[in-house]
Amino acid sequence: MQQKIIILDFGSQTTQLIARRVRELNIYCEILPYNKFPENPGQEVIGVILSGSPFSVYDAAAFSLDLSMIPEHLPILGICYGAQFMAYKNGGSVEPAPSREYGRAHLSEINGNDPLFNDINVGAQVWMSHGDTITALPDGFTPIASTEKVKIAAYRNENRRAWGVQFHPEVYHSQCGMALLRNFTVGICGATCDWSAASFIDTTIDALRKQLQNDKVVLGLSGGVDSSVAAVLLNKAIGHNLTCIFVDHGMLRKNEFTDVLRDYEGLGLNVIGVDASAEFFEALKGVTDPERKRKIIGKGFIDTFDREAHKLKDIKWLAQGTIYPDCIESLSITGTVIKSHHNVGGLPEKMNLKLCEPLRLLFKDEVRAVGRQLGMPEHLISRHPFPGPGLAVRILGDITPEKVSILQEADHIFIQSLRNSGLYDTVWQAGAILLPVQSVGVMGDERTYERAIALRAVTSTDAMTADWAHLPYDFLAKVSNDIINHVKGVNRVCYDISSKPPATIEWE
Ligand code: XMP
Repeated sequence: MQQKIIILDFGSQTTQLIARRVRELNIYCEILPYNKFPENPGQEVIGVILSGSPFSVYDAAAFSLDLSMIPEHLPILGICYGAQFMAYKNGGSVEPAPSREYGRAHLSEINGNDPLFNDINVGAQVWMSHGDTITALPDGFTPIASTEKVKIAAYRNENRRAWGVQFHPEVYHSQCGMALLRNFTVGICGATCDWSAASFIDTTIDALRKQLQNDKVVLGLSGGVDSSVAAVLLNKAIGHNLTCIFVDHGMLRKNEFTDVLRDYEGLGLNVIGVDASAEFFEALKGVTDPERKRKIIGKGFIDTFDREAHKLKDIKWLAQGTIYPDCIESLSITGTVIKSHHNVGGLPEKMNLKLCEPLRLLFKDEVRAVGRQLGMPEHLISRHPFPGPGLAVRILGDITPEKVSILQEADHIFIQSLRNSGLYDTVWQAGAILLPVQSVGVMGDERTYERAIALRAVTSTDAMTADWAHLPYDFLAKVSNDIINHVKGVNRVCYDISSKPPATIEWE
């Protein structure tokens, strides 16, 4: 039986981070919308965490939950709004704080006997982010920690095993955060910490064999880590009943199609490589609008995949490398679920096959851990993200085979240089962009009037925000020289120093 912590999401931006931290403790957890606590949670559920929220508990529209839905025997930890909510619902007072408190604070008093604060000492740094404060606790609730500004920074409900913390243990800046989450999950809930890449692989392979039996499955490979790991996992479970299709839309990186295809074959995958680049170039001819490019490529991919899949016999299942952040139901401010499921590019609707998503419970770094555990080569595991439409959204303006080939050469020099200098793994993502401008230059004694390339490299943890990577000047100087000297048709190289927001990672 796989133990599980349930995290009820009241709409906080850090809900996923809570799940990340619990998983880092090797404990399996799932995020559910605040109003979807299961009627019969089952024995595998060992504890519940209530997240923060953009609301105040006294707002008319605030997300609410009947706390009696949570069985008495399950310990609860409320974080920020979660803490205020439990106090408020039990008759306590929550009011706007005299001054909103954001950022660093230090615990000035702790009840050392409380299991939640085991091994956490006065002075520990915590991270606050709240406009409200608990001004009075209900009967039976006792404060167990304070900061200089916040009297009730943590409390315990003596009537049942429930705790509340005003600060955010899940954010990195709460230095005692992991200790507190460990105290709750392990010390209080009794988690055994046996969720790991290896245990995931064993249980998933068993489950896939039961689910798929002797059925035939088709999977679309993109060269990215998620679909690759999904394929290797499925291959281990059902062997050659899995057929993978890898479509070349012509907008991949230099040599990517052949290199990645070779990698896949080396992994023992039953893979069909389809070179559909000519069709994609034809469909994209003269198209300059970024969204139209995306739509054309998305549709072209689905059509090509569908056509190839129909050449196979008796396929019952479509497998996808969907991962957890794609599946978490996100809440709108009205509390309605705005994304209950994310399907890549609409393939499942088109194909009318049963859907199999073996990685749907994993975060990205867990997918990588599973890939490593499966013995996949590191260069496949630690690849930078690459957009589905590929270089098409890095060529500003219309797309021609000539432009793709110029960009492939420039991009190749940049990426190889990052690898050779040991910088590749220090950035989240990097690539070259072909600009729709020409500028004057001089080469030898000749005037040139040629294209400009922009280089983009960013640091990020989730692609939601990003900063430009502060690559060394001498590195950039060498890459610029190499591109201008080796890529015919380019006489100028720029480096993009915009962060996201307000810019985005891709230029289109
Ligand atoms: P932006 O440009 O929005 O990119 O800052 C965030 C992340 O998403 C990737 N990206 C895409 N991935 N199809 C994809 O599969 C797309 O159309 C697409 N557009 C952007 C981008 O490379 C970055 O990792």
